[in-house]
Amino acid sequence: MTDHTPTPELVTRNPEQIPGYTYGTDKVSPSPLTLLDLDRLKEAVWLTADDEQALRETAEVLADQAEGMVTAYRARLGDQPWRAGYSGHPDGTPNPEYSAASKPRFDRWIIDACTRPLDQHWLDCQREIGLRHSAVKKNKTDNADSLDRVPMRYLLAFTAVVIATARGFLAAKGAPLEQVDRMHSAPNP
Ligand code: HEM
Repeated sequence: MTDHTPTPELVTRNPEQIPGYTYGTDKVSPSPLTLLDLDRLKEAVWLTADDEQALRETAEVLADQAEGMVTAYRARLGDQPWRAGYSGHPDGTPNPEYSAASKPRFDRWIIDACTRPLDQHWLDCQREIGLRHSAVKKNKTDNADSLDRVPMRYLLAFTAVVIATARGFLAAKGAPLEQVDRMHSAPNP
């Protein structure tokens, strides 16, 4: 397997050159969800135009921390042998090539999550990311041999870790507490 490790600049400025990154291309199959479904999802979490603006501000604070954030997440994901089989070899031993190849796409997701317009491409890409954790597409992009799916319960549980730990990164550049709260708690009901 080739070492695909890209520079941070590739992640922030030229994501289309990240191997396996397909956002907005015809390599991503359409999500079965429609824009009406997306509107309802926004309403389900009370996401307002103000909140979307807060997300844009978030990108300015997080873009150059994305690499470090994902390194921290990955350290947690690999810290138990039973868990390491999803991102290493099936027996939990490390697979540095797979980690190096898939990580820049996760790094870029931090920036995309804050900056990409919430449209059909967004829906399609979120589905693609989901598929890459499922038996349909996991391991395929990087030709890896890890366990063939991450069970949904771990994906759902890990969202709490992602959200909770984001606060420290949002505060890392000295933004006033009020702005940190706004970025962290958008959407605000
Ligand atoms: C909130 C939960 C999670 C988020 C937001 C997330 C996000 C991502 C993203 C954006 C990628 C890159 C997808 C791509 O474009 O190729 C990725 C890949 C990956 N993630 Fe996650 N992840 C989550 C939970 C987990 C968990 C719990 C595990 C393991 C226990 C995990 C293991 C992996 C692996 C192994 C890959 C590479 C998948 C492949 O073979 O293409 N992720 N993740």
